[in-house]
Amino acid sequence: MDKKRVFSGIQPTGNTHLGNYLGAIKNWVAKQEEKENFFCVVDLHSLTVPQDPAQLRYETRSMAAILLAAGLDPEKCTIFIQSHVTAHAEGCWLLNCITPLGWLQRMTQYKDKSAKQESVLTGLLDYPVLMAGDIIFYDAHEVPVGEDQKQHVELARDIAQRFNSLYEQEFFVIPEPVIPEVGARVMGLDDPTNKMSKSLADKRGHAVRILDEPKEILRSFKRAVTDSGNEIVFSDDPEKAGVNNLLGIYKATTGKSEADVLADFADARGYGDLKKGVAEVVIEMLTPIRERYEYLMQDPAELDRLLAVGAEQARSVSQPKVDEMKQIMGLVLPG
Ligand code: TYM
Repeated sequence: MDKKRVFSGIQPTGNTHLGNYLGAIKNWVAKQEEKENFFCVVDLHSLTVPQDPAQLRYETRSMAAILLAAGLDPEKCTIFIQSHVTAHAEGCWLLNCITPLGWLQRMTQYKDKSAKQESVLTGLLDYPVLMAGDIIFYDAHEVPVGEDQKQHVELARDIAQRFNSLYEQEFFVIPEPVIPEVGARVMGLDDPTNKMSKSLADKRGHAVRILDEPKEILRSFKRAVTDSGNEIVFSDDPEKAGVNNLLGIYKATTGKSEADVLADFADARGYGDLKKGVAEVVIEMLTPIRERYEYLMQDPAELDRLLAVGAEQARSVSQPKVDEMKQIMGLVLPG
């Protein structure tokens, strides 16, 4: 039987954090044997907000090295940079021409991000169409993402369905979001009512970044906002959001059941012990990744070689799909 195809992406905007790891990357690595995988460093998406060119170039390679260091194996999956495969930008135009504007204006991430900017770029509004193309040009069945990307994957489904119905054929596979049971929404350590986010990760105490040193990780957890009580319990009570977040991070990091997590903290003398316990398992998980990352970044030529192989594999799937789409839509292919 054919393996299910998986596509997912991550932006190279630096500050890759524990939420990105637990909500996405860790699950990509865990499932790479079972599926046919495409993982993409989505540099074109990063351009939807202003970037420093030199920084973006650095972060793009760095993001690819993080994925490899985290355990994605180029023998088992295709890892590539979005802009290396021109089908994404080309096909995005075609999808733009069948996507109603109102669908994009309703996207919650667009509304949030555009509200924070003085001048909103067209690319920011169009962001989910580019993302839809990423997924559907590969006929991906599954899209493993954190909770915050669910709406975008649903839009990709809508766009795929619209194309299929406009042109009266089952041309695109309708993709499904795959959201992990734990770790899908890691909250900020400084404000457990807001998700941990790359754009706030420079703020002291907000995030644990994948490449942070152990001392820094411990410091961030020690500073984590909790509550004035002392009960270590999983809870939906907004008052206990900080403790709930710490327990969720521990659970996602160790893979233990809630009962086993609580048993580990049964003798804790307060939140100090909880914070230290969470920091310890996170440091144990991230240290080998940081070390492998540093090793990989010493050999940029090898990194570029792996990415060139990935781009070639990705192109061989997505370019024929986009070419066929052009033909279906009435464009004349070069003779
Ligand atoms: P990005 O780069 O913001 O995030 C990468 C992945 O990390 C997940 N994530 C989180 N998970 C749990 N808790 C958090 N606090 C947290 N913050 C982020 C995200 O859900 C995501 O899975 N638009 C996408 C990139 C993209 C893409 C795609 C994804 C472009 N094309 C096609 C899937 C398929 C984004 O900006 O992710």
